[in-house]
Amino acid sequence: MHNDNNVAANTPRPGEFWTYTLQLPQDTRAVRVARSTVRTVLQTYGMAQVSDVAELLASELVTNSLLYSDGPSWIRVSNPRTTHVRVGVWDTNPTIPPPFRGAPRPPGPPGWAERGRGLVLVRECADRWGGYAVGEEVFGMCGKLLWFELAA
Ligand SMILES: Nc1ncnc2c1ncn2[C@@H]1O[C@H](COP(=O)(O)OP(=O)(O)O)[C@@H](O)[C@H]1O
Ligand SMILES: [Mg+2]
Repeated sequence: MHNDNNVAANTPRPGEFWTYTLQLPQDTRAVRVARSTVRTVLQTYGMAQVSDVAELLASELVTNSLLYSDGPSWIRVSNPRTTHVRVGVWDTNPTIPPPFRGAPRPPGPPGWAERGRGLVLVRECADRWGGYAVGEEVFGMCGKLLWFELAA
């Protein structure tokens, strides 16, 4: 299959940068939509080899946004460098959760705990990660953005 420029759809083009942003409702089904969006973007841009991990980590962040914020959330998939994918998830809760506050390696939850592993997993699997508060200039509402990057 070919696109308008006669380049195969999943062939990366050197020096090309792209960003996709999707608004998600407060609906548990949004996790599935977010995962499939991440997969489709990565397959389209020749990064399918990292789509399993990217989907998993994205679903941790999106699930948290549904659990710990009231408003809608947004997911953004981009390639800040042509060799990397970055996934950012913004939500309306301004609190940056402790595992993403930059401490060297916070202790994980005790072995018997049923919760508290998602963000530690993101930290462990991502090549880079971070979080920062975002003001109203970004989407017209305050909140925060948590992000991770994977080398593709
Ligand atoms: N988007 C978020 N906004 C505010 N707090 C969050 C967010 N995501 C996670 N947290 C806080 O960080 C904790 C750890 O998150 P996580 O590692 O995903 O574990 P779990 O979701 O199982 O509690 C959560 O229990 C919550 O208190
Ligand atoms: Mg979680």
